[in-house]
Formats: sequence, structure tokens, C-alpha cells
Amino acid sequence: MAKLRHSRLPSRKLSSSTLAFTMLIMFTFVILILLAFGILSIPSNSGDSTKAHDLNSIVRKAMERTEEDGGRGKQWVEVISWEPRAVIYHNFLSKEECEYLINLAKPYMRKSTVVDSQTGKSKDSRVRTSFGTFLSRGVDKIIQNIEKRIADFTFIPVEHGEGLQVLHYEVGQKYEPHYDYFNDEFNTRNGGQRMATVLMYLSDVEEGGETIFPAAKGNFSAVPWWDELSDCGKKGLSVKPRMGDALLFWGMKPDATLDPSSLHGGCPVIKGNKWSSTKWMRVNDYKV
Ligand SMILES: *[C@@H]1O[C@H](CO)[C@@H](O)[C@H](O)[C@H]1NC(C)=O
Repeated sequence: MAKLRHSRLPSRKLSSSTLAFTMLIMFTFVILILLAFGILSIPSNSGDSTKAHDLNSIVRKAMERTEEDGGRGKQWVEVISWEPRAVIYHNFLSKEECEYLINLAKPYMRKSTVVDSQTGKSKDSRVRTSFGTFLSRGVDKIIQNIEKRIADFTFIPVEHGEGLQVLHYEVGQKYEPHYDYFNDEFNTRNGGQRMATVLMYLSDVEEGGETIFPAAKGNFSAVPWWDELSDCGKKGLSVKPRMGDALLFWGMKPDATLDPSSLHGGCPVIKGNKWSSTKWMRVNDYKV
């Protein structure tokens, strides 16, 4: 017996290395099976490499929702720029919501003002020639619904939002490029700085009326809608107004410093009418 055991020793050594080899073979086999069934995949860079600031590659569908919801049509998000950070959420509002906002605001429309950087007060201006009004936050169920949707989209709580502003631009009316953030103490006392803006288009515009980012980094002539832009719209990265679409852009970088590339304006309307609604969002709670 003792002799027998002794003689088994070398074979046991052999079997442990055989075992390791067998396991290696089996492991390789399992990996091959997983690859064959597509459970594992080897990352490939073919065709999808994104160059920074190349709008050809960054204008793309970032998210798609298949369900149709309350006549809003197909919803999808398109990243249009990283400097400034800007995305378009297509069919964010339904046609009925757009019409509701316009009709709610219509009786209260008055000449738009800009903020005086010295006093922080509103003042009349030639750089902004539209008509507009503010709707109180959460004023009714439909507005609450839209404000909730904006909060879900931006990850900024409803309480950080100012009331919706509804704007109307007729032929020739425009808003020269400006920043949404403030340079004065007065306007940041409630809620702090403005960090992001959601601009919702409530109407189509036949010609002109684009939202333009003249300081955006990138080749802005690479946007798919380049040929449809007005001369003004071709001076920067531009978004064509489309009823129901929402444009989200950030006036602040993720490190909470101000982003000068968020400079933006509204090109003059050439043909048709432009209705839009803006939601400005603050860093902190905005008391209403
Ligand atoms: C910008 O994009 C357009 C359209 O794709 C292209 O024709 C042009 O060469 C690009 N310009 C630069 C500087 O890359």
C-alpha cells in the first residue's frame, strides 16, 4: 500500500498541471461560446470615432423613445454642441400644449425688456424687440405638467425654475446675442445664478428666427439643416424653430463656472411668426 501511494506522487503532480491546462482550455471554450452567441463583444472603433468639435459626428441621436405619448409624436434627443453644452429634445411639447401656452399668454403680452446690469432692473431695449410675458410657476395643471417634464429632462428640480416666459416675435423682431446669466448682485439674490435654459418653440417659423450660438466651438456649417438657415443663422451654430421642440443649453459648465460659449441670440424673423417659451433655471431654489 505504502509503495503504491508513493508511486502515485509523480502522477498527482502531473494531474494538477493537466487540470490547470484543461481548465484553461475549457475557459477559452466558454469565452468562444459567449462570443459566438453575442453575449460578449469585442469593442470596435470602426466608423464611430468622435473627434472633438466635429459636428458631423456629434450631431446624432443620443436617445430615442419609441412610445408615442399624448399626440406628442416621436421623441428623441439630439446633441448639437458640447461647447456650449446644448441638446434638442424633439417633440417635447404637444401641439395642444403649444397652443395652450400661446393662448394663455396672449392677453398679457407686452414689450420685452432686458436687465440693466447697473441697477438690475428691467429696461426697454433695442437689442430685444419681441413681446412677452411671464406665467407664474405652477399656475395650473398643464403648466405644472410641463414644468415637471422640464425638471425630468434637465435633472434640475422644479423649485429652481423661474416662471415660464412666453415670447412672440413678428417679422423683423429679434434678440441680439446675450448671456442668460447675470453680472450683478441684485438678480442673483433669489435663487443664485441662472445655470441652464430650456427654450421651447411653440410655433414653426417659415424663415429666420433661428436660435444662434455665435461663440459655439465647432464647424457649425456641418449641421444637417445648414441650407435652410437665414444669413443671420449662418453666423454661428443655429437651431431652427420647430413647434414642440425644446432646446436645452447650459450657461454654466459642470464645475459651476460661467460658460461664455453659451452666448446666444434670436435671429430676426423673415417670414411667419415665432412663438417661444423660456424656462430659466437657477443654481438654488427660486422663491416665487
Ligand atoms: C465643415 O463642414 C462642412 C460640411 O460638412 C464641410 O464642407 C467643411 O469642409 C467643414 N469645414 C471644416 C473647416 O472642417
